[in-house]
Parts: sequence; C-alpha cells; structure tokens
Amino acid sequence: MRLILLGPPGAGKGTQATFITQEFGIPQISTGDMLRAAVKAQTPLGLEAKKIMDAGGLVSDDIIIGLVKDRLQEDDCRNGYLFDGFPRTIPQADALKEANISLDFVVEMVVPEENIIERMSGRRVHPASGRSYHVKFNPPKTPDTDDVTGEPLVQRDDDKEETVRHRLAVYQEQTRPLVDYYSGWAQSNDAAAPRFHQIQGVGSVEEIRNRIFAILKK
Ligand code: AP5
Ligand code: ZN
Repeated sequence: MRLILLGPPGAGKGTQATFITQEFGIPQISTGDMLRAAVKAQTPLGLEAKKIMDAGGLVSDDIIIGLVKDRLQEDDCRNGYLFDGFPRTIPQADALKEANISLDFVVEMVVPEENIIERMSGRRVHPASGRSYHVKFNPPKTPDTDDVTGEPLVQRDDDKEETVRHRLAVYQEQTRPLVDYYSGWAQSNDAAAPRFHQIQGVGSVEEIRNRIFAILKK
C-alpha cells in the first residue's frame, strides 16, 4: 500500500495515519514530524526550519524532496509507505512523479476551517512518536500523558490561533492545487496514476477511520 493523505492543517492526517500504518504494516512518512525531530536535535536543518515552521510558512522544496528521497531508501519502505504532509506544493508532487515513486491512492480529508481552529487549540502531542490527542475530542487515558509511553504531552509551537490561520492560508494557496493535480491525473489514461478519493473529515475519529478503510480495502 502506497498512499498520500492530503488535507489542511488539523484535518486529522496524523491521527488517521496511525490506524492505516498499523493495518497495512507500512511506515508513516510525515515531513512535519521529521522536521520537528531535526528542530529538537538542533541540527543545521532544524535551526533553519524552526523559524519557518513557527511562522507557519513552508520549508523549501529542495530540502523537503531531499529528505523524502533519503527516507524512501530505508528498508521499511519496501512494502509501501504513507505520506502525511507531503507533497505540499506542485514541485514536490512533480518530484515524486519524475522519480517514478509509485502511488496507489491519494485520499483528501475535507474539514471546514471552523472545525480546524477548534481542533488545533485543544491538540496535545507526544513529540517522540508524533502521536496526537485532543483534550475534548480524542483525550488520552490520563490527562497530558501519552497512552503508550506514559511520557508528558505538549502543545505544538505552531498551534497558536494566529499561526494556524496563516498555515490555512498557505494551504489554500500552495497545497490545495494538488487536489486538481491528483484528481486530473486520476481521470487521465495514465495507468501509473493513483486513484483519487475525497472523504469528509468531520465526525468521530472512528467514523473517519471507517470511511478511509472502506476506500483502501475496496
Ligand atoms: P505538519 O506537521 O505536516 O502539519 P500540518 O499539515 O499543518 O498538519 P497537522 O499536523 O497540524 O494536522 P494533522 O492533519 O496531522 O491533524 P492531527 O491528526 O494532528 O507540518 C508542520 C510544518 O512543517 C508546516 O507548517 C511547514 O512549516 C513544515 N512542513 C512539513 N511538511 C512540509 C513540506 N512537505 N513542505 C514544506 N514544509 C513542510 O489532528 C489535529 C487535532 O484534531 C488533534 O488534536 C486531534 O486529536 C484532533 N482530531 C483528529 N481527528 C479528529 C476528529 N475526527 N474529530 C475531532 N478532532 C479530531
Ligand atoms: Zn500532523
């Protein structure tokens, strides 16, 4: 299984990625998680990326494409992969195509902006694994504690309302065009085109999971 989860910040990509990667035994390739790990380790990339991420902008295509290509060389990608938060621009999507990196599905999660603001303000994350919770909609078993490791949960630096609004604007401008890119490709005669599906991302975490699985297991 090789797929892209496409959708705005806070759509639930990371939340659903956990279920899909478990079900199909594939790794989650989240460029956001990779960048946050670089920030934490204070690598040169991390130091550069932190400023951009805190402002809600996008890290340069060259850096991201290099990161993803390196990641795909690792052994665990042999049976497939789930891209979360990548590609995010047309040049990133073109880079995948030009490198003949095959895809079975592109699934777009559609969530209105008002739901997104509410989701981001209550989000808590486990930095080491990237696991996401919500104080109201998807609470951990013990408040502010990761269910798996028992370690503390934190708020992301880019989840302030002002930054979230900027991230949404960047999504509309730079990432939303990928919907036409992939739906157009799916309708063409190209046998290499991935299937494109849109799902409504509002509902319980379980309901959304069932909607996605219905598509992937057809
Ligand atoms: P990234 O980490 O990719 O962030 P994002 O795309 O903005 O998406 P989020 O992680 O915020 O949301 P999500 O869809 O994963 O939602 P989640 O499941 O957590 O990128 C961060 C930054 O890194 C970017 O701004 C950019 O600077 C840089 N970057 C990353 N990739 C890049 C690239 N390819 N190119 C350039 N720059 C890049 O859910 C959100 C909340 O909602 C949680 O609290 C969750 O519990 C809750 N929730 C989930 N599902 C539901 C539900 N059904 N109902 C109610 N609440 C729910
Ligand atoms: Zn995420």
